[in-house]
Amino acid sequence: MRVIIRKNAQAACVTAARLIASLIHQKPDAVLGLATGGTPVNCYAELIRLHRCGELDFSRVTSFNLDEYVGLPREHAQSFYSFMHENFFNHVNIDPSRIHLPNGNAEDLTKACDEYEQSIACAGGIDLQLLGIGSDGHIAFNEPGSSLASRTRVKTLCHETIRDNARFFGSEAAVPRLSVTMGVGSIMDARQCLLLVTGEKKAAAIRSAIEGPVTSQVTASALQFHRFATAVLDEPAASWLSRKSHCDFAESSMPDPDEILR
Ligand code: GLP
Repeated sequence: MRVIIRKNAQAACVTAARLIASLIHQKPDAVLGLATGGTPVNCYAELIRLHRCGELDFSRVTSFNLDEYVGLPREHAQSFYSFMHENFFNHVNIDPSRIHLPNGNAEDLTKACDEYEQSIACAGGIDLQLLGIGSDGHIAFNEPGSSLASRTRVKTLCHETIRDNARFFGSEAAVPRLSVTMGVGSIMDARQCLLLVTGEKKAAAIRSAIEGPVTSQVTASALQFHRFATAVLDEPAASWLSRKSHCDFAESSMPDPDEILR
């Protein structure tokens, strides 16, 4: 896995945004897999900034989000649908008909999950999947114990995730217990994976994901089997990596993604 370490969270978000921008420059009709959470907000802000400067055109881009809560109305302030519109879609020229999020309110959730997988396949598959990590090592809502071959389906949130996400809902009781999430297998099908992780609170999870054994107990560790996975970390998130200095050394001979568009 390529590991890029930046001084702080803002710098990590800018690097992640530039890797995404570079893909869109190469492939203007790219299919992006997108993520929610506090971490990517400044990555989206940088993409919006590049769009406003005339550097980035989203008109032919297609997007698929990783996950959504079950039973939360789309208009709810904490639905991932609202999050994505507020933090990204409303500020760029993406065609609304090319935006896809799992439907957590479908009458038949199993059917909706199968259809989501089919839509991804019909779009030609995901070119780049942006990911964050949960403090229990999950990607999307693939909680510990999720099959590493899993596809889009309903998953129950773990207590740690409910506790982490309570900050958005005001209380643990208000956090939905169920989600619809792309599976680890669906994520691994993306042509590139970009894991963006910041903050010391994630240091243990990211060490397990990058340096630990591949295990369904830390679903992000499956990325070790991906051919084109890049982790962009800030110093605090990288602070528990035992091979951190090698990552910096290896990166010093690679083209700097921040130089793209400069
Ligand atoms: C949720 C999302 C994940 C995200 C994680 C971390 O669980 N389903 O996709 O990576 O939160 O979010 P944050 O960036 O807020 O720490």
